[in-house]
Amino acid sequence: MRVRSNDCDHRFRPHSAYAWLTGLTGEDQAGHVLVLEPDGPRGHEAVLHLRPRSPRTDNGFYRDRRYGEFWVGRRADLAEAERMTGVRCVPLAELPPGRNAAVDGELATVLSELRLVKDPWEVGQLQLAVDHTTTGFEDVVRALPCALGKPRGERWIEGVFGLRARAEGNGTGYETIAASGAHACVLHWIRNDGPLDARELLLLDAGVETDTLYTADITRTLPLSGRFSPVQRQVYELVLAAQDAGIAALRPGAAFRDFHRAAMRVIAEGLAEWGVLKNAEGEFHRRYTLCSSGHMLGIDLHDCAQARAEAYLDGVLEEGQVLTVEPGLYLQPDDETLPRELRGIGVRIEDDLVITADGARLMSGALPRTPDGVEEWMGALMEG
Ligand code: GLY
Ligand code: MN
Ligand code: MN
Repeated sequence: MRVRSNDCDHRFRPHSAYAWLTGLTGEDQAGHVLVLEPDGPRGHEAVLHLRPRSPRTDNGFYRDRRYGEFWVGRRADLAEAERMTGVRCVPLAELPPGRNAAVDGELATVLSELRLVKDPWEVGQLQLAVDHTTTGFEDVVRALPCALGKPRGERWIEGVFGLRARAEGNGTGYETIAASGAHACVLHWIRNDGPLDARELLLLDAGVETDTLYTADITRTLPLSGRFSPVQRQVYELVLAAQDAGIAALRPGAAFRDFHRAAMRVIAEGLAEWGVLKNAEGEFHRRYTLCSSGHMLGIDLHDCAQARAEAYLDGVLEEGQVLTVEPGLYLQPDDETLPRELRGIGVRIEDDLVITADGARLMSGALPRTPDGVEEWMGALMEG
Protein backbone atom coordinates (compact mmCIF):
# COMPACT_ATOMS: atom_id res chain seq x y z
CA MET A 1 0.00 0.00 0.00
CA ARG A 2 1.13 3.55 -0.71
CA VAL A 3 -0.26 6.32 1.44
CA ARG A 4 -1.97 9.06 -0.49
CA SER A 5 -2.58 11.20 2.56
CA ASN A 6 -3.11 10.46 6.24
CA ASP A 7 -5.18 7.27 6.43
CA CYS A 8 -6.07 7.21 2.71
CA ASP A 9 -4.08 4.91 0.42
CA HIS A 10 -3.71 4.78 -3.32
CA ARG A 11 -5.64 1.95 -4.92
CA PHE A 12 -3.44 -1.15 -4.74
CA ARG A 13 -2.28 -2.95 -7.85
CA PRO A 14 -0.17 -6.11 -7.46
CA HIS A 15 3.24 -6.24 -9.08
CA SER A 16 2.83 -7.41 -12.66
CA ALA A 17 5.12 -10.40 -12.21
CA TYR A 18 3.21 -11.47 -9.09
CA ALA A 19 -0.06 -11.26 -11.04
CA TRP A 20 1.48 -13.17 -13.95
CA LEU A 21 2.85 -15.96 -11.75
CA THR A 22 -0.15 -16.41 -9.44
CA GLY A 23 -3.16 -15.24 -11.45
CA LEU A 24 -4.13 -13.17 -8.39
CA THR A 25 -4.80 -9.65 -9.59
CA GLY A 26 -7.13 -8.01 -7.09
CA GLU A 27 -6.68 -5.09 -4.74
CA ASP A 28 -6.87 -7.58 -1.85
CA GLN A 29 -3.36 -8.85 -2.72
CA ALA A 30 -1.70 -5.92 -0.90
CA GLY A 31 1.31 -7.15 1.02
CA HIS A 32 1.10 -10.75 -0.14
CA VAL A 33 4.33 -12.50 -1.14
CA LEU A 34 5.08 -15.40 -3.48
CA VAL A 35 8.17 -17.36 -2.48
CA LEU A 36 9.86 -19.63 -5.03
CA GLU A 37 12.34 -21.94 -3.32
CA PRO A 38 14.81 -23.64 -5.68
CA ASP A 39 13.91 -27.31 -5.78
CA GLY A 40 16.62 -29.06 -7.76
CA PRO A 41 16.18 -29.76 -11.44
CA ARG A 42 12.37 -29.66 -11.10
CA GLY A 43 12.46 -25.91 -10.75
CA HIS A 44 10.92 -24.31 -7.69
CA GLU A 45 8.54 -25.01 -4.88
CA ALA A 46 6.01 -22.19 -4.77
CA VAL A 47 4.48 -20.93 -1.53
CA LEU A 48 2.10 -17.99 -1.24
CA HIS A 49 2.20 -15.98 1.96
CA LEU A 50 -1.23 -14.42 2.39
CA ARG A 51 -2.91 -12.30 5.00
CA PRO A 52 -5.57 -14.52 6.63
CA ARG A 53 -9.15 -13.28 6.66
CA SER A 54 -10.34 -10.91 9.35
CA PRO A 55 -13.87 -12.20 9.86
CA ARG A 56 -16.45 -10.82 12.27
CA THR A 57 -15.00 -12.89 15.12
CA ASP A 58 -11.69 -11.04 14.75
CA ASN A 59 -10.88 -7.71 16.37
CA GLY A 60 -9.40 -6.44 13.12
CA PHE A 61 -12.76 -6.85 11.39
CA TYR A 62 -13.88 -3.55 12.93
CA ARG A 63 -10.62 -1.87 13.86
CA ASP A 64 -8.29 -2.37 10.91
CA ARG A 65 -9.19 0.25 8.30
CA ARG A 66 -6.75 -1.17 5.78
CA TYR A 67 -7.46 -4.86 5.96
CA GLY A 68 -10.47 -5.41 8.22
CA GLU A 69 -13.29 -6.96 6.23
CA PHE A 70 -15.79 -4.52 7.76
CA TRP A 71 -13.84 -1.80 5.92
CA VAL A 72 -12.65 -3.38 2.70
CA GLY A 73 -14.75 -6.49 2.13
CA ARG A 74 -14.24 -10.21 2.37
CA ARG A 75 -11.15 -11.82 0.90
CA ALA A 76 -10.29 -15.42 0.15
CA ASP A 77 -9.15 -17.60 3.03
CA LEU A 78 -6.03 -19.69 2.60
CA ALA A 79 -7.89 -22.83 1.47
CA GLU A 80 -9.82 -20.84 -1.14
CA ALA A 81 -6.64 -19.21 -2.40
CA GLU A 82 -5.02 -22.64 -2.69
CA ARG A 83 -7.93 -23.86 -4.81
CA MET A 84 -7.75 -20.74 -7.00
CA THR A 85 -4.01 -20.89 -7.61
CA GLY A 86 -2.94 -24.50 -7.11
CA VAL A 87 -0.15 -23.08 -4.95
CA ARG A 88 0.38 -23.88 -1.26
CA CYS A 89 -0.79 -20.95 0.86
CA VAL A 90 0.46 -20.11 4.35
CA PRO A 91 -0.10 -17.11 6.65
CA LEU A 92 1.85 -13.96 5.89
CA ALA A 93 3.29 -14.07 9.42
CA GLU A 94 5.30 -17.16 8.41
CA LEU A 95 7.25 -15.20 5.81
CA PRO A 96 10.96 -15.62 6.53
CA PRO A 97 12.64 -12.27 7.21
CA GLY A 98 15.19 -10.73 4.93
CA ARG A 99 15.72 -10.46 1.24
CA ASN A 100 18.70 -10.55 -1.05
CA ALA A 101 18.62 -7.24 -2.85
CA ALA A 102 21.69 -8.24 -4.87
CA VAL A 103 19.65 -10.67 -6.99
CA ASP A 104 16.52 -8.52 -7.39
CA GLY A 105 17.75 -7.22 -10.74
CA GLU A 106 18.48 -10.71 -12.02
CA LEU A 107 15.02 -11.90 -10.94
CA ALA A 108 13.39 -8.95 -12.72
CA THR A 109 15.33 -9.76 -15.89
CA VAL A 110 14.35 -13.43 -15.83
CA LEU A 111 10.68 -12.61 -15.23
CA SER A 112 10.68 -10.03 -18.03
CA GLU A 113 12.13 -12.55 -20.46
CA LEU A 114 9.69 -15.30 -19.40
CA ARG A 115 6.84 -12.93 -20.24
CA LEU A 116 8.04 -12.06 -23.76
CA VAL A 117 6.02 -14.77 -25.54
CA LYS A 118 2.31 -14.81 -24.72
CA ASP A 119 0.39 -18.08 -24.54
CA PRO A 120 -3.03 -18.36 -26.25
CA TRP A 121 -4.89 -17.45 -23.06
CA GLU A 122 -2.84 -14.29 -22.71
CA VAL A 123 -3.43 -13.35 -26.35
CA GLY A 124 -7.14 -13.83 -25.63
CA GLN A 125 -6.95 -11.45 -22.67
CA LEU A 126 -5.12 -8.87 -24.77
CA GLN A 127 -7.78 -9.23 -27.47
CA LEU A 128 -10.43 -8.61 -24.82
CA ALA A 129 -8.57 -5.48 -23.73
CA VAL A 130 -8.40 -4.33 -27.37
CA ASP A 131 -12.11 -5.03 -27.90
CA HIS A 132 -13.13 -2.99 -24.85
CA THR A 133 -10.78 -0.24 -25.97
CA THR A 134 -12.49 -0.22 -29.37
CA THR A 135 -15.81 0.28 -27.60
CA GLY A 136 -14.26 3.08 -25.54
CA PHE A 137 -13.08 4.86 -28.70
CA GLU A 138 -16.60 4.55 -30.12
CA ASP A 139 -17.97 6.08 -26.90
CA VAL A 140 -15.57 8.99 -27.29
CA VAL A 141 -16.60 9.70 -30.88
CA ARG A 142 -20.28 9.59 -29.88
CA ALA A 143 -19.52 12.05 -27.09
CA LEU A 144 -17.63 14.51 -29.31
CA PRO A 145 -20.56 16.83 -30.10
CA CYS A 146 -21.07 17.27 -26.35
CA ALA A 147 -17.34 17.48 -25.53
CA LEU A 148 -16.79 20.22 -28.14
CA GLY A 149 -18.92 22.55 -26.03
CA LYS A 150 -17.03 21.96 -22.77
CA PRO A 151 -14.35 24.34 -21.49
CA ARG A 152 -12.12 21.29 -20.84
CA GLY A 153 -13.18 19.02 -23.66
CA GLU A 154 -10.00 16.93 -23.40
CA ARG A 155 -10.89 16.08 -19.81
CA TRP A 156 -14.41 15.13 -20.91
CA ILE A 157 -12.93 12.67 -23.39
CA GLU A 158 -10.61 11.21 -20.76
CA GLY A 159 -13.66 10.73 -18.53
CA VAL A 160 -15.78 9.08 -21.21
CA PHE A 161 -13.02 6.60 -22.01
CA GLY A 162 -12.33 6.05 -18.31
CA LEU A 163 -15.97 5.16 -17.69
CA ARG A 164 -15.81 2.38 -20.27
CA ALA A 165 -12.44 1.18 -18.94
CA ARG A 166 -13.65 0.98 -15.39
CA ALA A 167 -17.01 -0.54 -16.32
CA GLU A 168 -15.55 -3.29 -18.52
CA GLY A 169 -12.18 -3.90 -16.89
CA ASN A 170 -9.92 -2.85 -14.06
CA GLY A 171 -9.54 0.65 -15.49
CA THR A 172 -7.20 2.29 -17.95
CA GLY A 173 -3.88 0.53 -18.44
CA TYR A 174 -2.06 3.89 -18.36
CA GLU A 175 -2.97 7.56 -18.14
CA THR A 176 -5.13 8.49 -21.12
CA ILE A 177 -3.64 10.99 -23.55
CA ALA A 178 -6.42 13.19 -24.91
CA ALA A 179 -4.51 15.81 -26.88
CA SER A 180 -6.22 18.27 -29.15
CA GLY A 181 -4.45 20.55 -31.61
CA ALA A 182 -0.81 21.26 -30.74
CA HIS A 183 -1.10 19.31 -27.48
CA ALA A 184 -0.63 16.25 -29.70
CA CYS A 185 3.00 17.37 -30.09
CA VAL A 186 3.53 16.80 -26.36
CA LEU A 187 4.21 13.08 -26.33
CA HIS A 188 2.77 12.32 -22.91
CA TRP A 189 0.06 14.96 -22.72
CA ILE A 190 -1.96 13.66 -19.77
CA ARG A 191 -2.90 17.04 -18.33
CA ASN A 192 -5.90 16.91 -20.67
CA ASP A 193 -7.19 20.31 -19.61
CA GLY A 194 -7.62 21.93 -23.00
CA PRO A 195 -10.74 22.77 -24.99
CA LEU A 196 -11.53 21.12 -28.31
CA ASP A 197 -11.58 23.11 -31.53
CA ALA A 198 -13.52 21.56 -34.40
CA ARG A 199 -10.82 22.71 -36.86
CA GLU A 200 -8.17 20.65 -35.05
CA LEU A 201 -7.23 17.02 -34.64
CA LEU A 202 -7.63 14.99 -31.47
CA LEU A 203 -4.89 12.48 -30.65
CA LEU A 204 -6.38 9.87 -28.34
CA ASP A 205 -3.98 7.30 -26.87
CA ALA A 206 -5.85 5.05 -24.49
CA GLY A 207 -6.19 1.44 -23.39
CA VAL A 208 -8.54 -0.63 -21.25
CA GLU A 209 -6.88 -2.97 -18.75
CA THR A 210 -8.78 -6.20 -18.12
CA ASP A 211 -9.51 -7.52 -14.64
CA THR A 212 -6.62 -9.92 -15.32
CA LEU A 213 -4.45 -6.78 -15.81
CA TYR A 214 -3.65 -7.12 -19.52
CA THR A 215 -3.79 -3.76 -21.30
CA ALA A 216 -4.42 -2.55 -24.81
CA ASP A 217 -2.51 0.47 -26.15
CA ILE A 218 -4.19 2.17 -29.09
CA THR A 219 -3.91 5.61 -30.64
CA ARG A 220 -6.18 7.20 -33.18
CA THR A 221 -5.84 10.75 -34.46
CA LEU A 222 -9.27 12.05 -35.30
CA PRO A 223 -10.50 15.23 -37.01
CA LEU A 224 -12.78 16.86 -34.47
CA SER A 225 -15.15 18.05 -37.19
CA GLY A 226 -15.37 14.51 -38.56
CA ARG A 227 -13.44 15.52 -41.73
CA PHE A 228 -9.69 15.92 -42.26
CA SER A 229 -8.48 19.18 -43.79
CA PRO A 230 -6.15 18.66 -46.79
CA VAL A 231 -3.01 19.35 -44.74
CA GLN A 232 -4.17 17.16 -41.84
CA ARG A 233 -4.82 14.39 -44.33
CA GLN A 234 -1.36 14.85 -45.86
CA VAL A 235 0.36 14.35 -42.49
CA TYR A 236 -1.98 11.51 -41.56
CA GLU A 237 -1.32 9.64 -44.79
CA LEU A 238 2.44 9.77 -44.31
CA VAL A 239 2.16 8.36 -40.77
CA LEU A 240 -0.21 5.68 -42.05
CA ALA A 241 2.22 4.70 -44.81
CA ALA A 242 4.97 4.47 -42.18
CA GLN A 243 2.76 2.29 -39.98
CA ASP A 244 1.90 0.04 -42.94
CA ALA A 245 5.62 -0.38 -43.69
CA GLY A 246 6.29 -1.17 -40.02
CA ILE A 247 3.52 -3.75 -39.87
CA ALA A 248 4.73 -5.37 -43.10
CA ALA A 249 8.13 -5.93 -41.45
CA LEU A 250 6.70 -8.05 -38.61
CA ARG A 251 7.37 -11.77 -38.75
CA PRO A 252 9.14 -14.39 -36.63
CA GLY A 253 12.88 -14.12 -37.04
CA ALA A 254 12.85 -10.44 -38.08
CA ALA A 255 15.00 -8.20 -35.90
CA PHE A 256 12.90 -6.36 -33.31
CA ARG A 257 14.27 -3.07 -34.62
CA ASP A 258 13.27 -3.81 -38.25
CA PHE A 259 9.72 -2.46 -38.04
CA HIS A 260 10.92 0.80 -36.52
CA ARG A 261 13.55 1.17 -39.24
CA ALA A 262 10.98 0.44 -41.97
CA ALA A 263 8.56 3.01 -40.56
CA MET A 264 11.24 5.67 -40.15
CA ARG A 265 12.46 5.15 -43.70
CA VAL A 266 8.99 6.05 -44.99
CA ILE A 267 8.80 9.10 -42.71
CA ALA A 268 12.23 10.34 -43.80
CA GLU A 269 11.37 9.89 -47.48
CA GLY A 270 8.04 11.65 -47.01
CA LEU A 271 9.63 14.61 -45.23
CA ALA A 272 12.16 14.85 -48.06
CA GLU A 273 9.36 14.79 -50.62
CA TRP A 274 7.65 17.66 -48.81
CA GLY A 275 10.91 19.61 -48.88
CA VAL A 276 11.13 19.66 -45.06
CA LEU A 277 14.36 17.62 -45.31
CA LYS A 278 16.94 18.01 -48.08
CA ASN A 279 17.00 14.23 -48.44
CA ALA A 280 16.04 11.08 -46.55
CA GLU A 281 19.59 10.30 -45.37
CA GLY A 282 20.83 10.52 -41.79
CA GLU A 283 18.78 10.96 -38.65
CA PHE A 284 17.35 14.43 -39.23
CA HIS A 285 13.77 13.10 -39.39
CA ARG A 286 14.04 12.33 -35.69
CA ARG A 287 13.45 16.00 -34.92
CA TYR A 288 9.83 15.32 -35.92
CA THR A 289 9.33 11.75 -34.66
CA LEU A 290 11.18 11.80 -31.34
CA CYS A 291 10.37 8.36 -29.99
CA SER A 292 10.61 4.76 -31.06
CA SER A 293 7.84 3.13 -33.07
CA GLY A 294 6.66 0.43 -30.71
CA HIS A 295 7.15 -1.88 -27.76
CA MET A 296 6.08 -5.19 -26.28
CA LEU A 297 2.61 -5.16 -24.74
CA GLY A 298 1.15 -7.34 -22.00
CA ILE A 299 0.37 -6.87 -18.34
CA ASP A 300 2.64 -3.84 -18.50
CA LEU A 301 2.16 -1.15 -21.10
CA HIS A 302 5.88 -1.23 -21.91
CA ASP A 303 6.06 -4.94 -21.20
CA CYS A 304 9.20 -6.95 -20.48
CA ALA A 305 11.26 -3.79 -20.09
CA GLN A 306 13.89 -5.51 -17.91
CA ALA A 307 14.70 -8.14 -20.55
CA ARG A 308 18.31 -8.15 -21.69
CA ALA A 309 18.93 -6.31 -24.96
CA GLU A 310 19.83 -9.56 -26.72
CA ALA A 311 16.43 -11.02 -25.76
CA TYR A 312 14.37 -7.97 -26.77
CA LEU A 313 15.67 -4.73 -28.31
CA ASP A 314 18.59 -6.38 -30.12
CA GLY A 315 16.79 -9.71 -30.48
CA VAL A 316 14.41 -11.20 -33.03
CA LEU A 317 10.62 -11.48 -33.02
CA GLU A 318 8.97 -14.77 -32.04
CA GLU A 319 5.51 -16.18 -32.63
CA GLY A 320 3.24 -15.27 -29.74
CA GLN A 321 4.82 -11.92 -28.95
CA VAL A 322 2.39 -9.00 -28.79
CA LEU A 323 3.58 -5.52 -29.61
CA THR A 324 2.51 -2.07 -30.72
CA VAL A 325 3.41 -0.32 -33.95
CA GLU A 326 2.99 3.39 -33.36
CA PRO A 327 4.88 5.76 -35.61
CA GLY A 328 4.08 9.44 -35.28
CA LEU A 329 4.89 12.89 -36.56
CA TYR A 330 4.98 15.69 -34.03
CA LEU A 331 5.30 19.01 -35.81
CA GLN A 332 5.89 21.54 -33.04
CA PRO A 333 3.85 24.75 -33.25
CA ASP A 334 6.98 26.92 -32.99
CA ASP A 335 9.26 24.91 -35.29
CA GLU A 336 10.47 27.35 -37.94
CA THR A 337 12.03 24.58 -40.01
CA LEU A 338 8.47 23.71 -41.04
CA PRO A 339 6.08 25.45 -43.42
CA ARG A 340 3.56 27.40 -41.39
CA GLU A 341 0.58 25.20 -42.32
CA LEU A 342 2.27 22.08 -40.89
CA ARG A 343 3.11 23.60 -37.52
CA GLY A 344 1.11 22.37 -34.56
CA ILE A 345 -0.04 19.11 -36.16
CA GLY A 346 0.64 15.91 -34.25
CA VAL A 347 -0.38 12.50 -35.58
CA ARG A 348 0.20 9.06 -34.13
CA ILE A 349 -1.45 5.84 -35.27
CA GLU A 350 -0.93 2.99 -32.84
CA ASP A 351 -2.13 -0.59 -33.21
CA ASP A 352 -1.62 -3.84 -31.32
CA LEU A 353 -0.38 -6.95 -33.14
CA VAL A 354 0.44 -10.55 -32.32
CA ILE A 355 3.27 -12.27 -34.16
CA THR A 356 2.00 -15.35 -36.01
CA ALA A 357 3.81 -18.25 -37.72
CA ASP A 358 4.32 -16.24 -40.91
CA GLY A 359 3.68 -12.59 -40.06
CA ALA A 360 1.48 -10.69 -37.66
CA ARG A 361 -2.22 -10.39 -36.92
CA LEU A 362 -3.70 -6.95 -36.35
CA MET A 363 -5.66 -7.19 -33.10
CA SER A 364 -7.05 -3.64 -33.25
CA GLY A 365 -8.31 -3.75 -36.83
CA ALA A 366 -11.90 -3.05 -35.75
CA LEU A 367 -10.88 0.61 -35.46
CA PRO A 368 -10.40 2.14 -38.91
CA ARG A 369 -6.92 3.42 -39.81
CA THR A 370 -7.32 5.00 -43.23
CA PRO A 371 -8.50 8.63 -43.40
CA ASP A 372 -11.60 7.69 -45.42
CA GLY A 373 -12.33 4.85 -43.01
CA VAL A 374 -11.94 7.18 -40.01
CA GLU A 375 -14.29 9.79 -41.53
CA GLU A 376 -16.93 7.23 -42.39
CA TRP A 377 -16.73 5.62 -38.94
CA MET A 378 -16.93 8.99 -37.19
CA GLY A 379 -19.83 10.10 -39.38
CA ALA A 380 -21.87 7.04 -38.53
CA LEU A 381 -21.24 7.34 -34.78
CA MET A 382 -21.80 11.11 -34.55
CA GLU A 383 -25.07 10.96 -36.49
CA GLY A 384 -26.34 7.86 -34.71
N1 GLY B 1 1.03 5.81 -24.28
C1 GLY B 1 2.37 5.37 -24.27
C2 GLY B 1 2.68 4.48 -25.39
O1 GLY B 1 1.97 4.47 -26.37
O2 GLY B 1 3.63 3.76 -25.38
MN1 MN C 1 2.54 2.38 -27.05
MN1 MN D 1 -0.05 4.44 -26.63
